[in-house]
Amino acid sequence: MNQNILKKIREKREFSQLSEKDIEMAYAKFQQRQASEEEKIKLAKELLRKIFSVFISKKLLSPKDKEPEWILRKHISTKERLPYYQEIYKRIFKNYKKASVIDLGAGINGFSYNFLPKNTSYTSIESVGQLDELMNFYFKKNKLTGQAVHLSLFEKEKVIEIIKKQKEPRIIFLFKVIDALEAIKKDYSKELISELAPYADRFAVSFPTKSLGNRQSFKAKRNWIVEFIEEKFEILDDFELGGERYLIFRIK
Ligand SMILES: C[S@@+](CC[C@H](N)C(=O)[O-])C[C@H]1O[C@@H](n2cnc3c(N)ncnc32)[C@H](O)[C@@H]1O
Repeated sequence: MNQNILKKIREKREFSQLSEKDIEMAYAKFQQRQASEEEKIKLAKELLRKIFSVFISKKLLSPKDKEPEWILRKHISTKERLPYYQEIYKRIFKNYKKASVIDLGAGINGFSYNFLPKNTSYTSIESVGQLDELMNFYFKKNKLTGQAVHLSLFEKEKVIEIIKKQKEPRIIFLFKVIDALEAIKKDYSKELISELAPYADRFAVSFPTKSLGNRQSFKAKRNWIVEFIEEKFEILDDFELGGERYLIFRIK
């Protein structure tokens, strides 16, 4: 993309380490508008903020050596999930003693490593570089089998390469990330899930059942994704905990 525009967007600390692909796609949504470049940059930043930084406390952008639970409380998604991790992972891992997790759009969910079954290998893919750094620091310091990869989920071929490198059985997490993908490219979640399916033994997808803002649109989106999964996959479990609905499924 135009390096000058990229530079202007990255001036904001919260976007300073955001993958170029996501910035490029967000800006492209406004490129055809009859508006000044400044205005388009402003619109792209607003969209990026909704997708990438609204959920995180600014405290996470300047890494500190804190306990996992402190960090898990600094992100809206993991904060709400914190009381339920044991139950959620028990259900996701049902009938598996060991598996490789690939957590797509992970945020800081890698800090829930200790709730996973012992010896799980954990790989996350996350576009916000500071969050990857934070997780990698934690994995290294505690000698955990974890890695956080700085990559956009729109770089599908690279995502597939990373997944293929992980030992089977593989469980793919997509927690509260579908809305973000759809905001940039309509129907991309379907495309991504379908193309990753041959490499996944199981998927665990979640979405919020209540939102701070627009309730109606959340309801519509929920029906849409559930129908797609029901049609193409075998659902192994479907439950709601802490304002989040989880669907666990595999290829038919
Ligand atoms: C609502 S948060 C959920 C975080 C985490 N999955 C959880 O539930 O705890 C959405 C996350 O997806 C990431 N994300 C959104 N679009 C992405 C993309 N195209 N590539 C990689 N990560 C993305 C955001 O940076 C953010 O961390």
